[in-house]
Amino acid sequence: MDLPDFGIPPQLAHRMSMAEQHEYLRTRLMRRRTLVTAGAVAAGGLLTGCGGGSGSGSRGTTSPSSSASGVHGSVVAPFGRHLAFGADPKTQMRVSWQVPLAVRKPYVRIGTRPDDLSHRIEAEVRDLHTPGVTGVRSALEQYYLHAALDGLRPGTTYYYGVGHEGFDPASAARRATIATFRTAPAGPEKFVFTAFGDQGVSRAAAASDHALLRRRPAFHLHAGDICYADTNGQGRKSDGYDPSYWDLFLKQNEPVARTVPWMVTTGNHDMEAWYSPDGYGGQLARWSLPESGFDARTAPGVYSFTYGNVGFVALDANDVSYEIPANLGYTDGRQTKWLDGRLAELRADRSVDFVVVFFHHCAYSTSSHASDGGVREQWLPLFAKHQVDLVINGHNHVYERTDAIRQGEVGRAVPVGASTDPTRDGIVYVTAGGGGRDLYGFPSGVPESYEGHVTRHEAVRSFSWAKGQSAEKETVEWSRVRYRGFSFLSVEATGGSRPALSVSALAQSGERIDHFEVRRGV
Ligand SMILES: [Fe+2]
Ligand SMILES: [Fe+2]
Repeated sequence: MDLPDFGIPPQLAHRMSMAEQHEYLRTRLMRRRTLVTAGAVAAGGLLTGCGGGSGSGSRGTTSPSSSASGVHGSVVAPFGRHLAFGADPKTQMRVSWQVPLAVRKPYVRIGTRPDDLSHRIEAEVRDLHTPGVTGVRSALEQYYLHAALDGLRPGTTYYYGVGHEGFDPASAARRATIATFRTAPAGPEKFVFTAFGDQGVSRAAAASDHALLRRRPAFHLHAGDICYADTNGQGRKSDGYDPSYWDLFLKQNEPVARTVPWMVTTGNHDMEAWYSPDGYGGQLARWSLPESGFDARTAPGVYSFTYGNVGFVALDANDVSYEIPANLGYTDGRQTKWLDGRLAELRADRSVDFVVVFFHHCAYSTSSHASDGGVREQWLPLFAKHQVDLVINGHNHVYERTDAIRQGEVGRAVPVGASTDPTRDGIVYVTAGGGGRDLYGFPSGVPESYEGHVTRHEAVRSFSWAKGQSAEKETVEWSRVRYRGFSFLSVEATGGSRPALSVSALAQSGERIDHFEVRRGV
């Protein structure tokens, strides 16, 4: 490929591997192309987002309002809309977006018909300041806006538009910006959710978005390593970091995330050491995730919600990871305690048939990062105690799926197409890290094995991270399905008298690469 005509600052280059340098340059090239597009729109009279100079935020300034930015609100276009459920998806939705310059009186218009958006809800402004680093990057202001919609009707499609003083989404000129979302049904209904981790900004990442949209999911779970604005993922200030990468990310995902609630959790690349607390200040500015009992003001990736007959729990595995310990122990055990209580509550809820837990670092994988002993030690006893039905991870940029695992061993083989009962067999762990970032592989000599291409099942030599970042070798029998391509998970949940989770993994082409069924007490 042609490399752009601006290089990597030497202060950054000496900390980056060749692969990271290549990725950095590719990103800069893509960003420049997007800037050209944004500039063209601006020439037509509208400022959109996307990075740098005249676009996203004001570099080196803290302009508090549109008057300070000197630009009238009518030419500042919202971008990067993304939705998230509140703790109760039947009645709560959070609408978030970004503006490239400070605006006055941001708001959401909402209604149940596209021609009636008379209801206005004020939005909150979260201004994120990123300090400059001499010779590396300029300071940057980013303006994230959030509106909390409560008291919605279950099972209802709403139309909404976002605006601010001078920019009314209900006006004839802006009506094309109106989007929709749907609240969770009052009772159990069949629904689909999708999941992947490790997305980033790339052609493959955008293709993942379009592929999952075709499944018409009620929502999407993002298992962390969201954007890769932090290129190194070590959670240190010495990591390479470009905050404007987030503008590209949110813009890339807008076609999906403006209608499909985008439920993220935090991976190692989401610890951005420049923001307190614990490197999560940026995430707290960008996302409005459910406030569901844990401390949403300090740990954005830890929350829970119930949709239909399934309870979902998002965890922040940076808290327990032995591999990348920047945030190891940062909740002082409070997250794990909360998890124990939350799983107990979900299991005691008679409307909940299944409990799905998702987080970043793998409990069980044989790909590059392999398994994290911290996750195993802290959380697996709780998953077993409360009979969690499915665990979804990212971190390894592949698709890998285990047999049902009980006490660290194969409880029952779960070949492609099989059914498993967590109360009898143990738990199936899925690594769905093929969301768009550069792919990994499997240990040398270990073949892929997936639907239509099943190879002989054999033990795999792998390792697990132990305290002190040491790798403990292990030979494992549980690696059942392995696929190297971009892929995502699509799960259909059924309620009623025979509740089931029908789990499929799909390549970006839509081709199915794995499927199995989870049913309890059969
Ligand atoms: Fe990753
Ligand atoms: Fe990761």
